Amino acid sequence: MKNIDSYTHLRGESVYLDDIPVIRGTLYAAVFDSPIAHGELLSVDCSAAKDLPGVVRIITAADIPGENQIGGIIADEELLASTHVHFCGMPIALVLADTEEAARHAVKKIKADIRPLPVITDPREAQAKGELIIPPRTFILGDTTSAWAQCTHIIEGRADTNGQEHLYIETQGAYAVPQESGVIRIHSSTQGPTAVQRTAARVLNLSMHKIEVDTTRLGGGFGGKEDQATTWGVLCALGAHLTNRPVKYALHRMEDMRMTGKRHPYSSDFRIGLDKDLKILAYEATFYQNAGAAADLSPAVMERTLFHCTNAYFIPNVKATAYSCRTHLPPNTAFRGFGGPQGMFVIEAAIAKAAGQLGIPATAIQEKNLIRTGDEFPYGQIADSEAPACWQQADEQYHLSALQKEADAFNAANPLHKKGLAVMPICFGISFTKTLMNQARSLVHVYTDGSVGISTGAVEMGQGVNTKMLQVAAAVFSIRPDRIRINTTNTYRIANTSPTAASAAADLNGKATESACRQILERLKASAAADLGTEPSAITIADELVCINGVPSSLTWPQLVMNTYVKRISLSELAHYTPPGLHYNPATEKGHPFAYHVYGTAIVTVTVDCLRGIYDVDSVKVVHDFGRSMNELIDRGQCEGGIVQGIGWMTMEEIVYDKEGRLRSNALSTYKVPDIYSVPAEISIRPLQTDKDNLAIFRSKAVGEPPLMYGIGAYFALRNAVKAFNPGAVLPYDAPLTPEKVLMGLYQIH
Ligand code: MTE
Ligand code: MOS
Repeated sequence: MKNIDSYTHLRGESVYLDDIPVIRGTLYAAVFDSPIAHGELLSVDCSAAKDLPGVVRIITAADIPGENQIGGIIADEELLASTHVHFCGMPIALVLADTEEAARHAVKKIKADIRPLPVITDPREAQAKGELIIPPRTFILGDTTSAWAQCTHIIEGRADTNGQEHLYIETQGAYAVPQESGVIRIHSSTQGPTAVQRTAARVLNLSMHKIEVDTTRLGGGFGGKEDQATTWGVLCALGAHLTNRPVKYALHRMEDMRMTGKRHPYSSDFRIGLDKDLKILAYEATFYQNAGAAADLSPAVMERTLFHCTNAYFIPNVKATAYSCRTHLPPNTAFRGFGGPQGMFVIEAAIAKAAGQLGIPATAIQEKNLIRTGDEFPYGQIADSEAPACWQQADEQYHLSALQKEADAFNAANPLHKKGLAVMPICFGISFTKTLMNQARSLVHVYTDGSVGISTGAVEMGQGVNTKMLQVAAAVFSIRPDRIRINTTNTYRIANTSPTAASAAADLNGKATESACRQILERLKASAAADLGTEPSAITIADELVCINGVPSSLTWPQLVMNTYVKRISLSELAHYTPPGLHYNPATEKGHPFAYHVYGTAIVTVTVDCLRGIYDVDSVKVVHDFGRSMNELIDRGQCEGGIVQGIGWMTMEEIVYDKEGRLRSNALSTYKVPDIYSVPAEISIRPLQTDKDNLAIFRSKAVGEPPLMYGIGAYFALRNAVKAFNPGAVLPYDAPLTPEKVLMGLYQIH
């Protein structure tokens, strides 16, 4: 089945925030944000701005009726700066005007007197100065201290990954509309409607039931709207509350890039020890996470780095420590993979470095150490592993050694072009690592004409979750898909939602939808049985017809629905779902945090132009563990998109902050993302067929984030290509490997 949104997308009819018709009297907002990364805010002078034509009101921290606080995990982030600014782009004042132009023009006339304070942009410097968001955490398995003595080879090093701009096509924004009795409805481009609701209530000093958040769909979120959509939703609500007029703010691209946080850059140290047979016996890693100026989701992101620090490998002795370091950058946040990719890059760097020193291909170490069913992850969960199966199938189906030989032959024949190949196995845990967040609700109404309306807590952001919800209901009821409508995500219909994140939205909301539909179905069956003079157990519905012992009767779905309504039986259900068996103890750092893991293996091949340093990713050949895919078109789309996004992070997307904490890569002219020309010529995706009962919806496996990590293979393939040209090149493990860095590596002399 095609993504149900594809029809309205194609016709340009899909509604995003900016497509919502505005009501007469709507005010337009714009933010005056800090030009300085760290300082004492002595005064804000709005006198030149407030009397400009069209300007209706300028709001600062002093106008906030409730708490000036938007921190989700830790209350450490002001909505509008009061006494200090902590990053360039931190909102200081909100201008409301009759037009967008007037609002943005007025912003330019505001002046702030800020006494500059020292700026930290480097996480290692922050850690050395004790600037931590939370105390460090350490995951331990076995005993590395005694294991080093058993190692034949010990290799140490450092690995760095840069941030990544979310670059959702739809920028951040919100539209807040006052209702009667002080209620405010917020149309928000958010992955977390409840987060916007809760925070707006806190800032406005209102009960949560007075804030309605409604989300139709997002033009992409990628984690960037999990926490950071809240700022704009709450600012608009604040403006609406104080003026009693609708307030809209849709950020311009450069505002969005400047004011919002990104994927966390990490700087890490590693030490890896192998025995003579290439078994990894010990691994130690220290992660310095660049959290930015406030906690945001950093503690949770840091946790996932630790969970995935051994990627798809079993290592008996592990010690991994992570620091969440406070710097003066915009608070960094969720981004597809949520800290996992940063951890996985480091172990892959450690393996690559070990392989380089031993003069063997990294694949020899990788394959030998894949995690197997029964092995223990550093956090105590026992693996039910598809890692060896994915690797084997990739090897067999794509002929790994032949691909390597082809590349070697090409390199021997071509002096100025070199190919590089790398294999990237992945393992990604599915569930929110905060156990309580693993809950969801679904509200299903069957109308008397047989049509069905469904509301869940899931937010559609291009990943196709609405289509999957529709498929669930169509399968349970056995009715035509066009009878079913998936409604907007709304806090008045579904309360206390977890954000659509952690790749778990289809699983959690799908299971809740399945449960709601099944409960209605049971009532319908009982009703049909009474009408047809048989037992409910004999009744099924197949293709819109009621069947008795599998034989179709003349009773159709719409008739059954109407008959049941006439009997005054409920045709609605609100179901709640929470996956069983999840637990985690942060005191011991052990437990069973994940419902299951997703596995896969990618073979990545690149060609480097050794005159210019530019390159192409030739192919990404994947065997991916989809479980039993619910929707192959959507799941392939998720894989392809994730892979390209991962390659972008690893190769060309380069975020640059200067020493003063100012974003230099602040526009699409200075920040390069993959376009159609940088997409690999070939992306092959073959499913690993698994059919286990795995706590996922209909035995499919979550697919949103894991494929991004295949992109890490592109980094190591590029290194191998550079080495094929210049075997002496000593390249730091420092992603992204941009064409400039490739060129320097090609001609580096030691
Ligand atoms: N795909 C599209 N097209 N747009 C997005 O914003 N976000 C990703 C992924 N795939 C995203 C996407 C992220 S970060 C997550 S966590 C999952 O989708 C969330 O959706 P799911 O739980 O339904 O997989
Ligand atoms: Mo995705 S980073 O969990 O929103």
